[in-house]
Amino acid sequence: MIMPDIKREDILRWLKTDDPGALFAAADSTRATRFGGEVHIRGIIEFSNFCAKNCLYCGLRNGNSNVRRYRMSAGEIIDTALEAISCGYKTILLQSGEDKSYGTDILCAVIKRIKSGSDCRITLSLGELDFDEYKSLRDAGADRYLLRFETSDRALFKKLKPFSSYDNRISCIRRLKSLGFQTGSGIMTGLPGQTYDTLSDDMLLMRELDLDMIGIGPFIPHHDTPLANCIPGGLELALRVVAIVRLIMPNAHIPATTAVGTIEKDGIEKALKCGANVFMPNITPPGYRDYYEIYPNKFYHGMDPADSIYLAGNMLKRLGRYISPRAGDAMGNITGIKRY
Ligand code: 5AD
Ligand code: SF4
Repeated sequence: MIMPDIKREDILRWLKTDDPGALFAAADSTRATRFGGEVHIRGIIEFSNFCAKNCLYCGLRNGNSNVRRYRMSAGEIIDTALEAISCGYKTILLQSGEDKSYGTDILCAVIKRIKSGSDCRITLSLGELDFDEYKSLRDAGADRYLLRFETSDRALFKKLKPFSSYDNRISCIRRLKSLGFQTGSGIMTGLPGQTYDTLSDDMLLMRELDLDMIGIGPFIPHHDTPLANCIPGGLELALRVVAIVRLIMPNAHIPATTAVGTIEKDGIEKALKCGANVFMPNITPPGYRDYYEIYPNKFYHGMDPADSIYLAGNMLKRLGRYISPRAGDAMGNITGIKRY
């Protein structure tokens, strides 16, 4: 099932198949061949919900005045990260809205401090920045960066992200790669106006960008956004995309995303059984996490890093899988050549 020359027609056929079970089984077997029972755990710290952007789908959009905004201090971020590392997390993901208030100096100091005592990895998800800012963060020791392109349909992108440019977003991804970041991107599935053709192009773009990590989650409407009354993206479509991406990019790290766990109670388990090999527990301190509401009723497992990794271990055991003792770095590009 692993095909070096992927055709758009094949992707379309899988997207529309009336036997998704066969697709899921093929993806699960590809995942098992590459990763065995190993699942990588990444602890997410959502350290600021301020955002300068106004994406139509997102509850944190600047235009939403019903959000209680917060910023964790550098000390709080560091303490949370170090606590997680002591509980066995090998990767800390620092995520925020597009919040310029920290500045790269503070962020670099946070990264250096977290990395000083252990060989953990740091992933950043801070949105679109300048080359020099990305470079400073990389020089400070950040290993990975996530920046979803969200959709490859330029017209849809413009509509949904009126304060971003599609070309700049793709340039950011290329910039991150050129700086040696292990680079992740991805999309929402079931966006209003998205078609099977769009999704096929999205997946071809993921391959073209030769991404190391790919996040896929269903669109979930948020009541305080212009898309409040739109239909949510279903779990099944998200799972189909996860499975197809596993087949066409066998080496990629693919998380069972929070959105997948939110849209359906056992979404995480299902995604882990059809191609996903990563799980990212939310370890934002409880006093803040309710306010990082990109969409409502966000799924989480456990109230602190220790609790979350314990519950993750139990869930994985039920699936016959286990928490990887390794950092889970990028596996190399689509041709299988090691880069890291
Ligand atoms: N539903 C699902 N995913 C969303 N995101 C933002 N808003 C929503 C929503 N309403 C996703 C975007 C973004 C990531 C951080 O969360 O893909 O890149
Ligand atoms: Fe801001 Fe990201 Fe939400 Fe857009 S998706 S409004 S950039 S937090």
